[in-house]
Amino acid sequence: MAGVMTEPFTIAVDGPAAAGKGTISKALAAQFDMGHLDTGLLYRAVGALTLAGVDPIEAARGLTAKDLERGDLRTPNVAQAASKVAVIAQVRAALIDFQRAFARRSGGAVLDGRDIGTVICPQAEVKLYVTASAEVRAQRRFLELHDKGLDVSRRQVLEDVKARDDRDMNRVEAPLRPAEDAVLLDTSELDINTAVARAIAVVENIRQG
Ligand code: DC
Repeated sequence: MAGVMTEPFTIAVDGPAAAGKGTISKALAAQFDMGHLDTGLLYRAVGALTLAGVDPIEAARGLTAKDLERGDLRTPNVAQAASKVAVIAQVRAALIDFQRAFARRSGGAVLDGRDIGTVICPQAEVKLYVTASAEVRAQRRFLELHDKGLDVSRRQVLEDVKARDDRDMNRVEAPLRPAEDAVLLDTSELDINTAVARAIAVVENIRQG
């Protein structure tokens, strides 16, 4: 662990599905002893409630910690539902305050998502944009789902990844794109340890000013 901080310090990690954001963000939070918020889980929880018949805007406004603990949030159906509710401006608006408060907690915070560096925390001290080719991301997600015992085909996972990319990048509200001052990290040809080491080096450089 490298020097515990008491001041707020925000690390924004954005990028498309299965680029490695989650693993990198967890590793950064552990390395720098910061809190970590996977903001995709908020949208997944709203998506799951919507699949169960709840109105998406009401779901977002009334979201509780318990909703984030549902066992089905990592399934492909919920991922697609999350991407669909994420286009709704009022859903996004309902989730902003919680994310911003988390970002400025004392001791620092890592937030990963799609719009952290562009909309939620445009003043973040560090912005990373983690990406990889759709084929590489689909292969990673396929192995992850397969390991969990889910019956999915490679082709279906690739189609799902591309459909989500398309929706997340081309929506009107907070589309997925790198912030102008984001550091790009393409993990297509990197193993996860190398990707994590690069991300740590980026943060250390910025912290040392
Ligand atoms: O990161 P994830 O795959 O768990 O995200 C699920 C969906 O939630 C994603 O396809 C789009 C949406 N999302 C978003 O719009 N903004 C965020 N900050 C995080 C996720």
